[in-house]
Amino acid sequence: MLFYAILFLFFILALLNYVTMLRIRHGALHNMPGPYCFPFIGAVQVYLQISMNNLLDRMLKYHEQHGSILAGWVANRISVSSIDLELNEQILASPNHITKNFNYIILRQWLGNGLLLSDGRKWFVRRKIITPAFHFKILEQFVEVFDQQSTILLSCLAKKADGRNAFDVYPFVCLAALDIIAETAMGTKMGAQTDARSEYALAVNKTTKIIAWRFTKFHLYNEILFSILHPHLKLQQMRHIKTLHEFTTNMIKQRREALEKNRNVAPLTEDSHFVGNKKRMALLDMLLQSTIDDQPLSDDDIREEVDTFMFEGHDTISSGISFTLYLLARHPEAQQKVLQEVTAVLGNDRKQAINMTELNELKYVECVIKETQRLYPSVPLVGRQLMEDFKYTHSQIGDGIIPAGTQILISLYGMFRLGRYFERPTDFVPERHLNNGSASAFLFIPFSAGPRNCIGQKFAMLEMKLIIAKIVREYELLPFGEPFQIESHIVMRSSTGLQLGMRKRE
Ligand code: HEM
Ligand SMILES: *[C@@H]1O[C@H](CO)[C@@H](O)[C@H](O)[C@H]1NC(C)=O
Ligand SMILES: *[C@@H]1O[C@H](CO)[C@@H](O)[C@H](O)[C@H]1NC(C)=O
Ligand SMILES: *[C@@H]1O[C@H](CO)[C@@H](O)[C@H](O)[C@H]1NC(C)=O
Repeated sequence: MLFYAILFLFFILALLNYVTMLRIRHGALHNMPGPYCFPFIGAVQVYLQISMNNLLDRMLKYHEQHGSILAGWVANRISVSSIDLELNEQILASPNHITKNFNYIILRQWLGNGLLLSDGRKWFVRRKIITPAFHFKILEQFVEVFDQQSTILLSCLAKKADGRNAFDVYPFVCLAALDIIAETAMGTKMGAQTDARSEYALAVNKTTKIIAWRFTKFHLYNEILFSILHPHLKLQQMRHIKTLHEFTTNMIKQRREALEKNRNVAPLTEDSHFVGNKKRMALLDMLLQSTIDDQPLSDDDIREEVDTFMFEGHDTISSGISFTLYLLARHPEAQQKVLQEVTAVLGNDRKQAINMTELNELKYVECVIKETQRLYPSVPLVGRQLMEDFKYTHSQIGDGIIPAGTQILISLYGMFRLGRYFERPTDFVPERHLNNGSASAFLFIPFSAGPRNCIGQKFAMLEMKLIIAKIVREYELLPFGEPFQIESHIVMRSSTGLQLGMRKRE
């Protein structure tokens, strides 16, 4: 009896949900076409077709088929996917629609409610506290660390640079980027490049893989279902996240102790923010000393930011640099131009440290990095969840309202490949980024735009420029090895690595 009652209740709920979905789909979103939605369940076939390897291109196909704004629903969730400049600008520029997409829920177990995932007042206050940690005066000091760590990177690459064999450059770059974010933002020398197997790097690799796979499986967003259906993976995920948290907890503990020690020696002054005599401010030290409403941040508050920055601050950059090196290896004319510029700006003394002034002069290198981000954006998708109705105006589909509760997905990958905005969209043409002042500020946005844009944008550009310049000055990049295979790993990755060859320049 009870069983039938529950079944009946379930049926009634499913029916009510279906009616709601139909009402929205054919009401507010009637002007947005999309894939077929089956009665009661919705567009589940979309989830059956996508995988980590084809997600981005599949989405692009749907857009080619139906238009630049798509709507659809699965179960009880309405989604709108957009590669439309007009609509994207209104969403991204708005201070009201800053809540992240439902999909990010899986990342929360690792990154907590750090800056990437938080919203409302919490996000606002944190963003204000953290912003000064990326001031250009501070970045200037960081360039020194970029330079020292990339010197280590060059020596690690020396073993592979035989001019004959292909290798995957990604793991090398990844460890360098980890060392850099740990030393600059956390004031901690991690030594991942010199440590044969960094537990932390390994755990990031495994965790992002599991999470990215779950992103493509609709039913696995639910932690309970995931635990039941894939207990083995659930255990792995728990174990790796534990490793990640232990690592960052330890990092915080050490910095806190170091800070306490200093406090006993000298009273806290403005300058106490700076580490050592180099006046290098670590984000972590700032968090340890900050107060919100007169309360210091708790260890958990701090850890979620440390986890967020440790991840965002190295994974994105590693892809950015590795894809750029890969493309330079396959485009010798562009590589030659980079070499010319690097030699002209930096001179021939490979021992001389590179500074910020010089980095700012590397205009062509910047174009190459931008063009790589256009074709293979490190962050290919940006998501929002509407907490209130979103009123838009549009020159083609008319004005309208996307209702609260809708999931919005913006494919940067898709938008950067539109022929109407980029001539010969699939060609690698770094020059297209020279003198492009007039294009819309919301068109080419690998770092997103508006209030929730990337806080580490300048940091990232400087680091990528320095590492690429230094590698190209030292090694000739050769088009060896198998092609990459895009894998959406939260961040853009390749499942076959980023293969190339290197030969030391005379
Ligand atoms: C190639 C390098 C990078 C790219 C392409 C990139 C791209 C992005 C994008 C597109 C967003 C918006 C994400 C969203 O709305 O869901 C974002 C946010 C963010 N990025 Fe980056 N990023 C890069 C490097 C970095 C670095 C080096 C750091 C830290 C040092 C960093 C820290 C963050 C943080 C904390 C956020 C969240 C900001 C907020 O919501 O207030 N990123 N990034
Ligand atoms: C991540 O793990 C895969 C194997 O699972 C390996 O091929 C790859 O090199 C690893 N990447 C890094 C950066 O360690
Ligand atoms: C950067 O280095 C160049 C060459 O060594 C030097 O001429 C310049 O003064 C330096 N700039 C700064 C700001 O240190
Ligand atoms: C730069 O401008 C050219 C011509 O106006 C255009 O074709 C190209 O897509 C623009 N590139 C970017 C990145 O905006």
